[in-house]
Amino acid sequence: MKRVTVSAPGKLHLSGEHAVVHGKPALVVAVGKRLYVTLTQNPEPRTQNPIVNLKTKKDYLSTIIHLIEKKYQVSFTDFSLEITSDIPVGAGMGSSAALVVATIGALIIYLGKPWNPQEINELAFQAEKFQHGNASGSDPTVITHGGLLWYRKELEFLKTFWLLPFKIPKSFTPFVLVDTGRTESTKDLVVGVVGKKKTQNPGAFELLIAKIEQVTRTITQAIHDEKEVDFRKLVTINERLLEQLGVVSNSTQKFIRDIENSGGAAKISGAGGVKTGSGIVLAVHDDPQKLMALAKKYKHPSFQVTLGGEGVRREQVVV
Ligand code: PMV
Repeated sequence: MKRVTVSAPGKLHLSGEHAVVHGKPALVVAVGKRLYVTLTQNPEPRTQNPIVNLKTKKDYLSTIIHLIEKKYQVSFTDFSLEITSDIPVGAGMGSSAALVVATIGALIIYLGKPWNPQEINELAFQAEKFQHGNASGSDPTVITHGGLLWYRKELEFLKTFWLLPFKIPKSFTPFVLVDTGRTESTKDLVVGVVGKKKTQNPGAFELLIAKIEQVTRTITQAIHDEKEVDFRKLVTINERLLEQLGVVSNSTQKFIRDIENSGGAAKISGAGGVKTGSGIVLAVHDDPQKLMALAKKYKHPSFQVTLGGEGVRREQVVV
């Protein structure tokens, strides 16, 4: 019986989220948490859609499957799909993009087509655009290729990225990630919050994203030069600019100020959130235990991840 398992990592935006939707660069990194998609051929081919039994993400998966059906002129009816993941969902760690990338990878192998990460990334970008309107493509790109990436969408058909030949330095204190939760979708924030801000005052918006671009550059330099003090200062500046962009909730701002007052630095990572929490907060402190204690006080789950993980990967192929 044909069985294919493909996995894809989560990601973090170290800098440049939102600005990247508007043509500025982003610095993104794959993480050690992964999502697994397994396609199993049913012994008895069914006539119904293979994903009807999935409770969540059903529409999104349908979109992905239809995209592949259209691309390869095929029709899927004979497999079941199983998903397991340790990437927090809807938190800014790329769980949706990991689902798209891994599913596309698995479908392509299932069809016996050549393994081509560039193609997987392009198809994932199409699916992501469907999901949140104005996607930059930074999520599927880092999730497909892994590592630490400098990414930029110059034009809708021209996306460039550079897989950086260095890592987050071992000398840096490990980051702590805190999940502050969020109620809005990426689309709500990209289109509803930031899109509106751009329309209301295009001049001020351009100035703001130009400042974010500058931070993305200097943060990349600080990582390259292994300058942790600079890195932390830039994380704080980055956070302030994201607050000005309007994507950080009051409660998350308060939490981040507490981190800063205790001697650390922190920023949201990804789309953010305004109504309740703001998704994942990336935090650094000489004493990571202090961050974990603070997160506990706020009743936010906290954890650590390895950075710079491998991109989309074939786990098991039984034909
Ligand atoms: O994956 P999220 O929800 O963390 O957001 C991705 C980053 C954005 O810049 C906000 C959107 C995009 O398409 O790049």
